[in-house]
Formats: sequence, structure tokens, C-alpha cells
Amino acid sequence: MMQTNPKREQLTASYDWYRQMRETQPVFFDQNVQAWHIFRYDDVARVLSDHATFSSDQNRFVPAEYRDSSPLSSSILRMDPPRHRQLRHLVSQAFTPRMVAQMESRIKEITSGLLDQVQALGEMDVIRDLAYPLPVTVIAELLGIPTERREDFKQWSDAFVSGDGEATEEAMQAGIQAAGSMVGYFTQILEERRAHPQNDLVSALLMAEVDGERLSTEELIGFCVLLLVAGNETTTNLLGNAILCLDENPGNVERLRANRELVPNALEEALRYYSPVKLMPRWAVTETTIGDQRIEAGQLLFAWIASANCDEAEFPDANQFNIEREPNRHLGFGRGIHFCLGAPLARLEAKIALSAMLDRLPGSWHVPGVPLSPIKSMSAFGVKQLPLTWEK
Ligand code: HEM
Repeated sequence: MMQTNPKREQLTASYDWYRQMRETQPVFFDQNVQAWHIFRYDDVARVLSDHATFSSDQNRFVPAEYRDSSPLSSSILRMDPPRHRQLRHLVSQAFTPRMVAQMESRIKEITSGLLDQVQALGEMDVIRDLAYPLPVTVIAELLGIPTERREDFKQWSDAFVSGDGEATEEAMQAGIQAAGSMVGYFTQILEERRAHPQNDLVSALLMAEVDGERLSTEELIGFCVLLLVAGNETTTNLLGNAILCLDENPGNVERLRANRELVPNALEEALRYYSPVKLMPRWAVTETTIGDQRIEAGQLLFAWIASANCDEAEFPDANQFNIEREPNRHLGFGRGIHFCLGAPLARLEAKIALSAMLDRLPGSWHVPGVPLSPIKSMSAFGVKQLPLTWEK
């Protein structure tokens, strides 16, 4: 983030902006987008976790004709209590840490199969060859969806994510179309699993019940789409960004090889240093103040996780990538009632992938000095391609 490498300028420019804003206008109303930008750690943590004041449900605050009707809007990500609590409880029954832990050997197998394809070559594209196919395969298997549809998944989640980056008519249309395809696809899968339950997450979700209540079809689809979209791109970027961090800070690959215990810490530090999710939106329920600014009821706020995670007030030497940082209370997975439900899965996948790379790609790693382009998205941070070489 604080590198002066010209090849990385395009990638890291926003970090200069965050720093400047934290220092000069930490709570800033942007006339262009009619929203508040929140940059400091304490403020971002509050906006994310004070759900009584800051709502996640956009549809409470916009006129009917502007309501978001995408499947995500009926997912827990966009819900407030009490419905959020009920639904989160329901989906947590199906998506348990135990279920995730059971995936471990399968995640290792998939990772190993992917590295088999590149190991002898001495070079790979980290995104194309590992960081993208791994999470999409895992989530497809977890949901019980045939992997043949993997390419469709990629296209759907890309269209979704880029729809939030550029408000061009084209990008928005692609996003709407992708949403339609996903709803159609999951409606069919749900019907099949209703008739013939399997040992998979979709069947478990269909059966999950709290206080005699079940998920509606709309909510089920919303959750499946959320898993697919929220769970893929983010995990891809965690692994890609971790490799970027290691490349920018020589010596760490060797330290990790010598001390594998540090792998989970290094990944937490990557989540802090190059956060895969840059920001989350909230809507003010009532009038309130942040710092010396008055926020009106109904106003939109962007909580800049990426900026909070490099705030010196919380992280001493915030611009140092330190794989032994302790404590590391980063906000990469959010904070409060919406804290990432997929965090155990993302952490497990990234740990397995990075450990397998350390085992199988010997010598020092090198990212060639080509300009790296950030993916186009308002909320996701990562690179499109990430070439890597090692000693054969
Ligand atoms: C490194 C990877 C990931 C990152 C950085 C990440 C980040 C986040 C963040 C910041 C939130 C909070 C949103 C908010 O406060 O509004 C969140 C929520 C969520 N994430 Fe993740 N996520 C990752 C991976 C995953 C995976 C693998 C899954 C599932 C397979 C997943 C499922 C969810 C769900 C269901 C929620 C909504 C929870 C709720 O609203 O109660 N995430 N994630």
C-alpha cells in the first residue's frame, strides 16, 4: 500500500487517498454520490456494528420504484433484526463450522490437483490457476451443484461484482441478467432437492427449522446467491492479495516455510493490509453524529474497511506488512451481527492453498514486473491476473 513501485501505482493509489482522508476529512459527505464516506477505524467499527442506528436494509430507505429486487436483497446481508437474527440462526444450522471442517481433506485434494497442473512449469497465474478455481469448486461441491456449471458461476459473479463498480447501462444490464440466470438455476436445484434430498447444503437449508419456521423460497435463493457471489470473489482475492503482500515484502516466504504456524497470522495480516472487501454500505435509521458531522436519517454511508484497516490509531506501524502482528483486530470480515459467516471456510481454504504453495513451489517466488490491474469494483479489491515464477 505504501510502495512506490510504479508498476503497482494503479493498484495502490486508493491507499494514499484513504490516508489523506483519515487525516483531513475522516467523515466526508460526497455530493457526487450523495453519501458519507467513513475512514477511521473507530468510526467504521461503529457503523458496521451499531445495527440499531445503521441499517443494512437499503429497501427501508428508498422509494418503492428504486427498490433493489436482486436476490441479494432477500439475503441476510441486507437484513436487519429481528428477521436477520432468525434467518442467520436458520442458515447457521446448515452452514456449521463442523461442516466446514469436514471439507478439509477435499479442499486439500482440489488444491493439490490444481497445483499438479503447474508445478513442473515453474510459472503460473495465481488467480487463473488456483485462487479462482479453488473456492468456486469448493462452494459448488458444498451446495451440491455440478461443477460443470463453473464457467457460468464465474460469469454470474463477475457480472454481479462489476455491476457495483461501473454504473454503466451495460454493466447494470449484465448484472440484472446474471441475477435472472442465477434465480432460474437455483429454483430448479431447489425443486430437485425438495423431491430428492441429498447430503449437501441446499438440502440442509431446505430442512433447517427454527421455532417451526423455515426459509421461504426467495430467502433460500438469496442465500445461495450470496454464498456464490460473496464466497468466491472474496476468497480468490484473499489468496491473490496475500501473494502480492509476500512479493512486496521479501523474506516472508522463507520465514513461513521455516515456521508454518505463522501461515494463519500471515493471512490475517493480508486481510488487514490488502482487504478483499473494501467497503460495506449502511443507511442511517435515525439522525446521529459521527465525529463532528451530523448524519441525517435515511442517508447512505460507506464504511471503508480498507481504510480502517490501515489506521495508525489502531495498528502501530500500519504501513508495515508484519506476519507476526499481534493483536490484529482487523475489520476484513466485518464486525457485529453481520460478521462474515464464511470466515472459517475462507480461512481454511486460504491456509490450505498457501501451505500447499509453500510445499510445492520451491525457492524464491517472483512476480514479474508487469503492471498489475485492479479488478473493476467499488467493493472488491484484488488483481485480475497475477503471474508468479519460482525455481524449477
Ligand atoms: C476472504 C474472504 C471473505 C471476506 C473478506 C468476506 C467479507 C465479508 C464481510 C466484510 C462481511 C460483512 C458484511 C456487512 O457487515 O455488511 C461478510 C458477510 C458475509 N459473508 Fe463473507 N467474506 C469472505 C468469504 C466468505 C465466504 C467463503 C462465504 C460463504 C461461503 C461468505 C459468506 C458471507 C455471508 C453469508 C455474510 C452475511 C452475514 C450476515 O449478514 O449475517 N463470505 N463477509
